[in-house]
Amino acid sequence: MATLLLRNIRQLVQTETEAQTWPSPRRAEAMRVLPSVDDAWLLIEGERILDFGPMSTCPERADEVIDVAGGTVLPAWCDSHTHLVFAGSRETEFVDRIHGLSYEEIARRGGGILNSARRLQDASEDDLFEQAWRRLEEVKGYGTGAIEIKSGYGLTLEAELKMLRVAKRLAEQSSLSIKTTLLGAHALPQAFKNNREDFVKLVIEEMIPRVADEGLAEYIDVFCEKNFFSVAEADQIMAAGLRFGLKPKIHTNQFNSMGGIQAAVQRGAISVDHLEVVNQEEIDCLRSAETIATLLPSAPFFLNDHYPPAREMLDAGVAIALATDFNPGSTPSGRMPFVLSLACIKLRMTPEEAINAATINGAAAMELADELGSIRVGKIANLLITSPISSLAYIPYAFGSDLVKKVILRGEVQ
Ligand code: NIG
Ligand code: FE
Repeated sequence: MATLLLRNIRQLVQTETEAQTWPSPRRAEAMRVLPSVDDAWLLIEGERILDFGPMSTCPERADEVIDVAGGTVLPAWCDSHTHLVFAGSRETEFVDRIHGLSYEEIARRGGGILNSARRLQDASEDDLFEQAWRRLEEVKGYGTGAIEIKSGYGLTLEAELKMLRVAKRLAEQSSLSIKTTLLGAHALPQAFKNNREDFVKLVIEEMIPRVADEGLAEYIDVFCEKNFFSVAEADQIMAAGLRFGLKPKIHTNQFNSMGGIQAAVQRGAISVDHLEVVNQEEIDCLRSAETIATLLPSAPFFLNDHYPPAREMLDAGVAIALATDFNPGSTPSGRMPFVLSLACIKLRMTPEEAINAATINGAAAMELADELGSIRVGKIANLLITSPISSLAYIPYAFGSDLVKKVILRGEVQ
């Protein structure tokens, strides 16, 4: 197998050795440290990390050598929550919000998710694939190496299948690692306005079995929120998903605290996502749970809403991941470095905490932490290389700069 050597790395970040390793997801003190090797080399064989160390021990040859010339090397970002497959865009709603309409108001008027659902219905599978492929290539340039993709703009069985087939095609053809999630219950379609039980039934009795049968998703999601789906409905959907091997990763506490976190934790959810509105009881529930809290600060940034109480959660020992939420409504951006900056600026996370949340904990939120999210011998070589920077904090600090100069996925330079 061919070898690739990276040399003259100013800082090799997020390293793990036999002697120095932590259980994932990381929480509390383990979030605050970010082991690294200064003035380092790293050797890749095939798609995996073979070894690394200080330059004084650098191997003399390899099939290919890249002189990193003082750049910093990190694990590629693990973006564990996106809606990357969608049709078109919604900048008219963006302007509506500037004029004073709220996100929820727009949704009540038939815009929002229903707007994207109409566009998706009209788009062919190939067209959707092309659009999503371009977004995937874009986020790769920001340093993302693994990504979760949800359905949820279909809202009919056929359209949800169409979205997930596109996501699976992306997974087959892309060098990124991709996990997929069925979000059948994302919004109530207009046709079910007066019989919501029937829609929940459609999700449970048709979407879940069919998606599981065709192997189109690993996870089940539901938008648990006022005017969307209740805790009882979310719980029924999570239970149904679990019966078919789909583990819950749900949207909850974006605008209201209704009990979605507790219900998801009880169901052994892999993650609960958003959490802009969280109370002490919910923080207590999460601190002792396996479930990861995935924060998506680009969403409240874009919607001009308030941010999750991340500091309280971190200090309580909750396991936190950071993701983009890339979607056409609340976050038309898949830029992980900006998420890191927001995490530091708005959530008061330290750069170390933010990088842990965007790498190893993001990997854990996709059940990929054994393969990705840190620099460990034997793990898949998904790496990003920055231009020379003075310290790690420079990454979230320089929030407008493009510091990612090269991306290596599965051992291949992209
Ligand atoms: O995560 N909140 C629910 N779903 C998406 C937004 C969907 C949309 O507006 O298109 C989110 O923010
Ligand atoms: Fe989302």
